[in-house]
Amino acid sequence: MKPSADLRLVPLVLCCWCVGTADYICTPNPVGGLELTSDRVLHWDASTNCPNAIYRVQIAWSGQTMYEEVVPALVFDVDFLVYCRTYTFTVFAVANHSLGQTNSVTAFIPIPVGSDVNVTRLTSALINDSVLIEWQVGMKYPLCVEYYHLVIHDDDETQHLQVTERGYLLKHVAKCTNYRFEITSSYNGMNGTTIELNYTVPAATNTPSLVEVRKSSVSINTTWSLEKYQQNRCEVTALYVNGTRFSVIYPIDDVPGRPDIQVTLVGLRADSMYYFNVSVENNAGISPAFQIAVQTLPVYWN
Ligand SMILES: *[C@@H]1O[C@H](CO)[C@@H](O)[C@H](O)[C@H]1NC(C)=O
Ligand SMILES: *[C@@H]1O[C@H](CO)[C@@H](O)[C@H](O)[C@H]1NC(C)=O
Ligand SMILES: *[C@@H]1O[C@H](CO)[C@@H](O)[C@H](O)[C@H]1NC(C)=O
Ligand SMILES: *[C@@H]1O[C@H](CO)[C@@H](O)[C@H](O)[C@H]1NC(C)=O
Ligand SMILES: *[C@@H]1O[C@H](CO)[C@@H](O)[C@H](O)[C@H]1NC(C)=O
Ligand SMILES: *[C@@H]1O[C@H](CO)[C@@H](O)[C@H](O)[C@H]1NC(C)=O
Ligand SMILES: *[C@@H]1O[C@H](CO)[C@@H](O)[C@H](O)[C@H]1NC(C)=O
Ligand SMILES: *[C@@H]1O[C@H](CO)[C@@H](O)[C@H](O)[C@H]1NC(C)=O
Repeated sequence: MKPSADLRLVPLVLCCWCVGTADYICTPNPVGGLELTSDRVLHWDASTNCPNAIYRVQIAWSGQTMYEEVVPALVFDVDFLVYCRTYTFTVFAVANHSLGQTNSVTAFIPIPVGSDVNVTRLTSALINDSVLIEWQVGMKYPLCVEYYHLVIHDDDETQHLQVTERGYLLKHVAKCTNYRFEITSSYNGMNGTTIELNYTVPAATNTPSLVEVRKSSVSINTTWSLEKYQQNRCEVTALYVNGTRFSVIYPIDDVPGRPDIQVTLVGLRADSMYYFNVSVENNAGISPAFQIAVQTLPVYWN
C-alpha cells in the first residue's frame, strides 16, 4: 500500500467524530485566582466557558488526598482542618460530567492569632506503683504544640518537665502521697492556660519485715522495719505484737526516717516455743500479720 492513500483517510474519520459530539462536550477552563485567605477560606474565580459549572475541591496532606467535596460556590471554608499542617488544595470545574484541568495551591495553616491552647482533659490513674497522667488539647491544636510543661508537686518537692507526648508515667509513687499536677502547652513561643489536678495515691497498709531476732533463755528481742516513706507515706500509728501468752501495742510517732522498732519480750520460760503475730497500723488499717515462732534457749546457755 502507498503512504499517500493512508493520509487521505485521516481527515474523513476526524470529521465524522466532530460533527456527532461538538454540541455537548464542553471542557471547563481551569479556575483562576485560587488562594487560601487567613480566615481559612479557599477562594477561586469561576470557570466560565461551560454552562452550569460546579467545583470539586480536593485536600491533600502528606502526599495523599484525604478529603474531597463538590460545591456549587466559588468559596470553601476549610476551618475544620487541623492547624499547623501544610495542605495542597486542588480545585477544578466540572460541567455536565466533563472535568476541567486542575489548579492547586499549597499552604500552611498556622494557629489562629489569639488561640489559647489549654489542656482540655487532665486525668490520672494508678497502674501498679506508677501514676499515668494524660491530657488532651482541642482537636485542631495538637500539631501546634511544641511541648507541654508539666509541673509535679508532691509533699516534699517540685519537678519541672518538658514532655512532647500527651501523657507521662510517674513511676514508683508512695502510698498516700499528695500530688498536684500542672500542665501548660507551649506553642509559637506562647503558653496556654495552665490546668491543674490534685491526686492522692490511695492508702495501703504497711507490712513490717523482720530484721533481727536475738534470744536468751528468758528473753526474745526482735527488730522490725517498716515500709519507708519512699514506698508508703501513710501515717503509721502502732505496732501490734499478738502472742499466744501476751499482747503488746507499741504506739508509733511517725517520722520520715521510720527507724526500726525493737520489740523486747522478757520474763519468758526457758526452752519454750513462743508464737506471735506482728502487724502495723496506719491510716489504711492493720496490716496482714507477720507470723513468727521463736524458741527460748535452754537454761544452761545463760
Ligand atoms: C449534557 O449532556 C447531555 C448529553 O449527554 C446533553 O443532552 C445535555 O444537553 C448537556 N447539558 C448541558 C447543560 O450541556
Ligand atoms: C479551654 O479552652 C476551651 C476552648 O478552647 C474553653 O472553652 C475553656 O473555657 C478553656 N478552659 C480554661 C480553663 O481556660
Ligand atoms: C503490674 O505488676 C505486675 C506484677 O509486678 C505485672 O505482672 C503487671 O504486668 C503490671 N501491670 C502493669 C499494667 O504494668
Ligand atoms: C511559659 O511557661 C514556662 C513555665 O512556667 C515559663 O518558664 C516561660 O517563661 C513561659 N513563657 C511565656 C512566654 O510566658
Ligand atoms: C489542689 O490542692 C491545693 C492545695 O493543696 C488547692 O489550693 C487547690 O485548690 C486544689 N486544686 C484543685 C483543682 O482541687
Ligand atoms: C533483750 O533486751 C533486753 C532489754 O533491752 C535486754 O535486757 C536483754 O538482754 C536482751 N536480750 C537479748 C537476747 O539480747
Ligand atoms: C496469728 O495469725 C494467724 C492468722 O491470722 C492466726 O491463725 C493465729 O492464731 C495468730 N496467732 C496469734 C499468736 O495470735
Ligand atoms: C492483735 O491484737 C489486737 C488487740 O486485741 C487486735 O485488735 C488485732 O486485730 C490483733 N492483730 C492480729 C494480727 O491478730
